[in-house]
Amino acid sequence: MNRETMTVALGDRSYDIFFGRGIYSLFQEWICRFYPDGTVHVVTDRNVASIYGDDIQRWLEGIPHEVLALPPGEERKNFDTVREIYGFLARGDAGRDSLVVAFGGGVVGDLAGFAAATYLRGISCIQVPTTLLSQVDSSVGGKTGFNLLEGKNLVGAFHQPRAVFIDDAFLLTLDDRNLRAGMAEVVKCALAGDAQLWERLLAIGGTWKSISGEEWRWIIRRAVAFKASVVERDERETSLRRILNLGHTIGHAMEKSGGYGRLLHGEAVAMGLAWEAILGRKLGVTGGELVDDLVSLLIDMGFPLDDPGVALTSIAAAIGMDKKRMVLDVDLPLVVAPGRCELRRVPLAEIRRELPGIRAEIRERSIARELNIPAGDAIQEESPVSNLVRVGDEVYEIRPVEENVVVAAPAEAGPEIGREKATAAEPESEPSKRPVRPEPAPSEIRTAPAIRTVTLADLYWSQGEHSTARRIVGEILRDEPANLRAQAWLAARTGSELVEADLLRFLETIAKEYGYDLS
Ligand code: GLY
Repeated sequence: MNRETMTVALGDRSYDIFFGRGIYSLFQEWICRFYPDGTVHVVTDRNVASIYGDDIQRWLEGIPHEVLALPPGEERKNFDTVREIYGFLARGDAGRDSLVVAFGGGVVGDLAGFAAATYLRGISCIQVPTTLLSQVDSSVGGKTGFNLLEGKNLVGAFHQPRAVFIDDAFLLTLDDRNLRAGMAEVVKCALAGDAQLWERLLAIGGTWKSISGEEWRWIIRRAVAFKASVVERDERETSLRRILNLGHTIGHAMEKSGGYGRLLHGEAVAMGLAWEAILGRKLGVTGGELVDDLVSLLIDMGFPLDDPGVALTSIAAAIGMDKKRMVLDVDLPLVVAPGRCELRRVPLAEIRRELPGIRAEIRERSIARELNIPAGDAIQEESPVSNLVRVGDEVYEIRPVEENVVVAAPAEAGPEIGREKATAAEPESEPSKRPVRPEPAPSEIRTAPAIRTVTLADLYWSQGEHSTARRIVGEILRDEPANLRAQAWLAARTGSELVEADLLRFLETIAKEYGYDLS
């Protein structure tokens, strides 16, 4: 059996992390050796219990134990659930010599860890993480806690586990979406501290779902080794540990703005990694090639890099909220080179100013990747990129970019106008100094974008450009009447199933407008 051990060296709070396939005999042996007289209290959730309930019983055969299966989900990560765990421990006569086993994903780990940290002023806990995200991130490092209505993880405690058992066999029952979400934290670890892991991820790219067990173990071990080394140097996150928040400043803001539960945490982190890398390039810290590699890797892995339903205003507001306090600047981890990350204090105003340009670039790159063309060619004409405009103290509005665009040489600028870097307008600027945008020639006004994809239509729609969006989809349907994605798009936006007659009428209108022959 392929097993490995890693020690997190934290003085009298040091512990071992065991890696391998089929780790349960080791788990059994460890419990018998270190907790021969105590009771074992397993906390899991119903999803995990439905798959591994019998295994848990078998692994703990002969050891006095009891199991609590909680309702699953981030929305249950609250004080009511913690109270349920306290009741479970009290009814089971848990004492100082008892052991809590957190058996599940990040939510179970955080809740059970917190209950163990506080019950009887602290009892022992071990972590058996069953998701990739909890294996490479939350099970190691001792952060425990729960959410309040006012915000995520607002109550918590540092409580290091006594051991962590990481078995990659658990990943076999994980769905693709959750597995992918865990990959975002692996990418984060690689970028922040492990150039070799980064190279391996680049080589794996879009084939990550089919890698071997051996490869999974290697990747997980590398990610965990990096995390453990950071925790050893800054257990309580006074400074260095903040680099583990790479991708999380914008990622958390995305997660919060979209409404928790819409995006998985890892999906939001993937977005944050891409957006913050572009920000890092704009701030002169991150190289352009690295940004290219990262964005391509994340897209190849299947991550969406934007949530078009989320307004830039909400993201901007959420970035500034730290535990309900409005802050003016943040310590932002930025990637200097693969495996090397540094903390920079960046004013929020600067991040906000860059958000419209970052979103535009992300969209362009995503479309280019979808169409398999160079990023610079993806949007060939003026894009309706929105811009964030400060209209008062901490009050922002999204405006079409053409209201704010700075034109370097108006006379010759013509087709390049839309490609100018988006810049937040200063409302107080003198009207006479406002840039003048040349009137488009009449033929330009009605020109539909050269690139027509449903994704692009989505982007236009999310910017409020509904007629352009409809026109794009109409033209896709004109060329491919059987395009199901386009049909579904139209049906969803006409409020009812699109019947064939409606579709035909719609196509005829489009055809008439453009003088196309539909026959
Ligand atoms: N998940 C970040 C940390 O443990 O510090």
